[in-house]
Amino acid sequence: MAQKITFSAGRLQTPDNPIIPYIQGDGIGVDIWPVTQQICDAAIAKAYNGNRKIEWKKLLAGEAAFNTSGEWMPIETMDAFHTYMVGIKGPLTTPVGGGIRSLNVALRQDLDLFVCLRPVSYFDGVPSPIKKPELVNMHIFRENTEDIYAGIEYMTGTPENNQVKDFLMQEMGVKSIRFPDTVSLGIKPVSKEGSERLIRAAIQYAIEKKLPSVTLVHKGNIMKFTEGAFKNWGYALAEKEFEDKVFTWTCWEKLKKEQGELAANEHMKDALQSGKVLIKDVIADAFLQDSLLYPDQFSVIATLNLNGDYISDLLAAMVGGIGIAPGGNVNYDTGYAIFEATHGTAPKIAGKDIANPGSLLLSAAMMLDYIGWIEAATMIRKAMGKAIADKMVTEDFASFMPDATALGTKAFGEAIIKRL
Ligand code: NAI
Repeated sequence: MAQKITFSAGRLQTPDNPIIPYIQGDGIGVDIWPVTQQICDAAIAKAYNGNRKIEWKKLLAGEAAFNTSGEWMPIETMDAFHTYMVGIKGPLTTPVGGGIRSLNVALRQDLDLFVCLRPVSYFDGVPSPIKKPELVNMHIFRENTEDIYAGIEYMTGTPENNQVKDFLMQEMGVKSIRFPDTVSLGIKPVSKEGSERLIRAAIQYAIEKKLPSVTLVHKGNIMKFTEGAFKNWGYALAEKEFEDKVFTWTCWEKLKKEQGELAANEHMKDALQSGKVLIKDVIADAFLQDSLLYPDQFSVIATLNLNGDYISDLLAAMVGGIGIAPGGNVNYDTGYAIFEATHGTAPKIAGKDIANPGSLLLSAAMMLDYIGWIEAATMIRKAMGKAIADKMVTEDFASFMPDATALGTKAFGEAIIKRL
């Protein structure tokens, strides 16, 4: 009998027949969801000899919901994600005009999904703009609830903006607003709690998956009390909560001061050889360069919301772009998680059976990993990798791959199922 996934003692409990809600999505959702579901079902049946099976529960949101109920995000859909904990969604049309600003943001806020997780790795044969894309294997932990995304912004000329500006200039003595008559203002909230829960999740993930390092990416040289504090809170947390499992760059600096560089290097080498995770940091602009030049120096990335936005697209482009970049939004403290295709609804190609289902499919594989069905997830990734290596790809890839066969969405799905 189908049952709910639950969360207790910090762990998900997944029954053999879990109920998992899904939103097919607007636009190309109609092309990519059925293929994704079919491949997941086939992989699960094969990996567990028919002993495990997902009971998919269809939910409405976006245009599909609006056309039937007049609501972009029906309350039943929100409730179902609360009830069933883990779900998946295709892309949703962002409503134009008033009401909800973004459906995705509404879901993330409602469930307090504070981590936007984007794993980025290379599939052999995928067109890439860099020389050694096979060295890319990164896992981005982007903070999802704070930073300038909190939407605290005031337009120049409004009474609210004038009030904030007067407060800053008259009461706080701020003198560095260059053009006070026409300035708009935005506020960047970054908290210790918010930073710590994100960084804690990133370190735990690195330890569990035996990954070599966590890099805190920040602009602390300029924004000292938000981005700089993020870095400092991160190091302090790593040393306090994961003392015997990590080696921090701050520890290396301390050892260097006390015992010299050679000794500090030796300590670091021993620590890393014994399996400790290296915790380091890099300034965001340097990261953009270094990740292109030396991608193998980075593994797990923990960063604030805006940096995470830029970094996600940069890294996705290095390994094939948005057509195959998967994502998940997770609250590791409560267990709630929604996995999602990272691209939009691609209206121009919707319903034409040409869209690449890779992003949604790999998001589904992330979801299977998350619920503990790692064998099925691995099977999906390998089969998709084999199809690409055999040059059986959708049109977006085929146009960059000499001798490749451009397949429709369904045919690409069948090619993957054959390779499971
Ligand atoms: P988009 O991602 O839909 O399209 C950008 C380009 O990538 C287009 O050329 C499209 O054809 C192509 N593309 C996207 N996914 C593809 C796939 N799976 N296979 C092959 N080609 C693919 O972004 P756009 O045009 O800015 O947004 C369209 C709509 O989607 C808007 O309403 C937007 O608000 C919404 N959107 C929703 C997101 C979500 O639900 N997570 C994310 C981004 C946009």
